[in-house]
Amino acid sequence: EKGGYATFMEKEINEQPHAVADTLLGRTDESGRLVLDELRISEEQMRAVDKIVVVACGTAAYAGMVAKYAIEHWARIPVEVALAHEFRYADPVVDERTLVVSISQSGETMDTLMAVKHANDLGALTISVCNTHGSTIPRESDAVLYTHAGPEIAVASTKAFLAQITACYILGLYLAQLRGGTYADDAASVMHELQDIPAKISDLLGRMDRVKEIARFMADTRSVLFLGRNVGFPVAMEGALKLKELAYIHAEGFAAGELKHGPIALIDAGQPVFIIVPSPDTPHELHKKVVSNIQEIRARGARTLVIAVDGDEDVVPFADEVIRVPKCSPLLQPLLTVVPLQVFALQLSTAKGLDVDQPRNLAKSVTVE
Ligand code: F6R
Repeated sequence: EKGGYATFMEKEINEQPHAVADTLLGRTDESGRLVLDELRISEEQMRAVDKIVVVACGTAAYAGMVAKYAIEHWARIPVEVALAHEFRYADPVVDERTLVVSISQSGETMDTLMAVKHANDLGALTISVCNTHGSTIPRESDAVLYTHAGPEIAVASTKAFLAQITACYILGLYLAQLRGGTYADDAASVMHELQDIPAKISDLLGRMDRVKEIARFMADTRSVLFLGRNVGFPVAMEGALKLKELAYIHAEGFAAGELKHGPIALIDAGQPVFIIVPSPDTPHELHKKVVSNIQEIRARGARTLVIAVDGDEDVVPFADEVIRVPKCSPLLQPLLTVVPLQVFALQLSTAKGLDVDQPRNLAKSVTVE
């Protein structure tokens, strides 16, 4: 049942090209226009949406953070990301023009379910991005956009995360197309580019030998930091979460720009730091800014583990290790940059002799508040 892999997690990491491809399947007509037949909210209601709130927990919430960058850029609708358990017991500003997007692999997470019920009570439109047919959260929502990652057995989420991000891109592009505006015409070309991502993930999965080797030599590590910017920021958070869950190592993800506002004090000799570098064509010179962050922490003794796109030579002088990922448009990068971090956590957990699929104290779906 593990398809020849030692663990479900390893199998599921390797299924990620399919998770993305299957989630993209059947969403467009012959002309490349998005058609979301399964959406039970009218186009008119969707057009009237003036605010989006994503509610989710854990890894799904990080998918929501990626969604914020993409949806705001393409659809020009403000997006907030709320942890479901915080949303439920705050006093959120939500009305009938708010679209509340819940993201959940299992569809049974109690915190997320309660947030959706709360949103319904407040009169919001609710849509569920979910991987499990017939589960509770889609049933309680006005509409559902299924991810097609297939069953995820390992407790730590991997392929569901990529599928969630993919579904959120689809939603953002659909909203852009529906509302017209500057990026409406881009929807078809981004969908087209998304079709190439599964092959790039496969390519990337074939290059993981060095990442595994790095992990094996780090079994005694006590703390690892992760830095990213823009869509790389949630990837940094996700890399840290994977390491906590699977290898029981203290890990933190930061927005790279935040470094000088405090976290740089943590850097001392030998501190391992993963840096997710935006591709050089990312707007606002973010690439240059992150490269100078690498330089700063390296000068303070950090061991820099740099994730950069093919051909980015600027990082080389400041990197102890360069982990290469295939190129793609800046907003789509999380579908690639998170993969080495998943493999790293899996391998470190294995090197420590831990139970990869069933980490201590965790359950696959958290059905209590
Ligand atoms: C992390 C992980 C959890 C879940 C979270 C939400 O690897 O698995 O953080 O992402 O508990 O679960 P779902 O998506 O089922 O609502």
